[in-house]
Amino acid sequence: MFPKIDPTKTLAWAKLQSHLKSEMQSVHMRDLFASDINRFDTFNLQLDGILLDYSKNIITSETKKLLLELAEECQLKEAIQAQFSGKHINETEDRAVYHVGLRDFSSKTCFINEKEVHAEIETVRLKMKRFCDSVHSGAWKGYSGKTIKNIVNIGIGGSDLGPLMVTEALKPFWKQDIQTYFVSNVDGTHISETLKNLNPEETLFVIASKTFTTQETMTNATTARSWFLNHVNDEQAIQFHFAAVSTNSKLVEDFGIASENTFTMWDWVCGRFSMWGATGLSIALTVGYENFESFLKGAESADRHFENEAFENNIPVILAMLSIWYINFWDAKSEVILCYDQYLHKFATYFQQGFMESNGKSIDRNGNHVSYSTGVPIWGESGTNGQHSFHQLIHQGTSFLTCDFIAPIKTQNPINDHHTKLLANFLSQTEALLVGKTQYEVLAEDSSISNYLSNFKTFEGNKPTNSILLDEVNPFNLGTLVALYEHKIFVQGVIWNIFGFDQWGVELGKVLSNTILPAFTSNEINSSLSGSTHGLLKRIKKNNEY
Ligand code: F6P
Repeated sequence: MFPKIDPTKTLAWAKLQSHLKSEMQSVHMRDLFASDINRFDTFNLQLDGILLDYSKNIITSETKKLLLELAEECQLKEAIQAQFSGKHINETEDRAVYHVGLRDFSSKTCFINEKEVHAEIETVRLKMKRFCDSVHSGAWKGYSGKTIKNIVNIGIGGSDLGPLMVTEALKPFWKQDIQTYFVSNVDGTHISETLKNLNPEETLFVIASKTFTTQETMTNATTARSWFLNHVNDEQAIQFHFAAVSTNSKLVEDFGIASENTFTMWDWVCGRFSMWGATGLSIALTVGYENFESFLKGAESADRHFENEAFENNIPVILAMLSIWYINFWDAKSEVILCYDQYLHKFATYFQQGFMESNGKSIDRNGNHVSYSTGVPIWGESGTNGQHSFHQLIHQGTSFLTCDFIAPIKTQNPINDHHTKLLANFLSQTEALLVGKTQYEVLAEDSSISNYLSNFKTFEGNKPTNSILLDEVNPFNLGTLVALYEHKIFVQGVIWNIFGFDQWGVELGKVLSNTILPAFTSNEINSSLSGSTHGLLKRIKKNNEY
């Protein structure tokens, strides 16, 4: 049974509240570092090619101890076991949550709905491998005998963001002669601009949709199909240029995609965690199946760590409990992910869905409204770009927020001193956020400065950051990093006592969109719509013929 504990009713919660009040509220991290030269050694963790330094947080060993007590009291261990053994922890949809099985290479078995799933996972992996190998070797030919040069992934949300983020992150590993494109937005501009310069004879579309009913994806897929048939004029040719990833084989078949080109996923894999399975097809087609498997193995390593490591040395547990500390005790309003690596420019966007679709909930697992904060907005940008736009607010604004800084030690592009400058910026930002600058220091630097002006040049500091260093961004390390973050999301959901694997919140908009659509072509406007929507619709229709 998945635990259903109100965190605010635990002993640890009360202890953390009083610990904050009596000890931590007035502490400055500058003093914590000054009083303990071993602070970095105490508060860092390593896994394979990844190091987490969490010493720049407003914590002591006592804080950590209490946060881990909270995790124990909320029965985190039991929750982890429930997930890894394929229990139906997604109770509102009555589903298991077993994406971790997709990256398990042990000989483990797991029964979901009384069916062993690892053999099926292996079959899909093998099918993906054969498909990719045949595309890359040139054995797979388009209808006119040409080899495939362009992959177009059509999907949205979890069927887009993961493959997009990973292919961008692994650009140096792309197969020669393959170009990959992603189309997600129902805005016709997205598909038009993508198809503009593509030769249909050399293009393979991957239609990725768990349900195969998502409006955006099906609209784009239908447009891609028409575009293809306009050029080719032969329905038989579709089998050489369209593949599908879905749980819905019937709808895939109706669309005209051959079963040999269809890659199964399962309802026990949530869309936003699906790139580890068949949704990762575009990744494997882009970087090669071996690199895709290495990416899975990196994630597997994070899974073993999360499953077996004591909480005090467990990276996702520490990351999640720090985030609980700030969101629930310090009233932090958002979390920022800052990747000092241009290849990781989609990392924060990807985890916006991961965190916000999972933990943007206000009803607890008992069906009651929560009395405490849950998921906060996640956002970010590549370093150093963010420094020249929004870092001002992080340094001197009134919102309390926390940042993860992520950087590779080794760059894929060692040109002149670019990378040392990038890393110097990475280090200096976390340092500045930690130490700040006192008014005394400002005045000592320039005694001619007025008190008034010195106020503006003063930095409080004491802004918490995590620093994550990767030896380099490669498929294995990326898999590990992503899986560590995924587990952080899971831990937060357990502590907040919410269901992290459903997404009822996105349904209303989907339903209303289908209700409004007919109004474009009829004179009737649904009378249940608000006056504002009525007014806007009328204005749109006045200027456009529909
Ligand atoms: O936005 C809601 C959502 O259901 C996401 O959770 C999912 O990743 C996305 O839509 C796409 O769904 P599908 O893969 O079924 O097209």
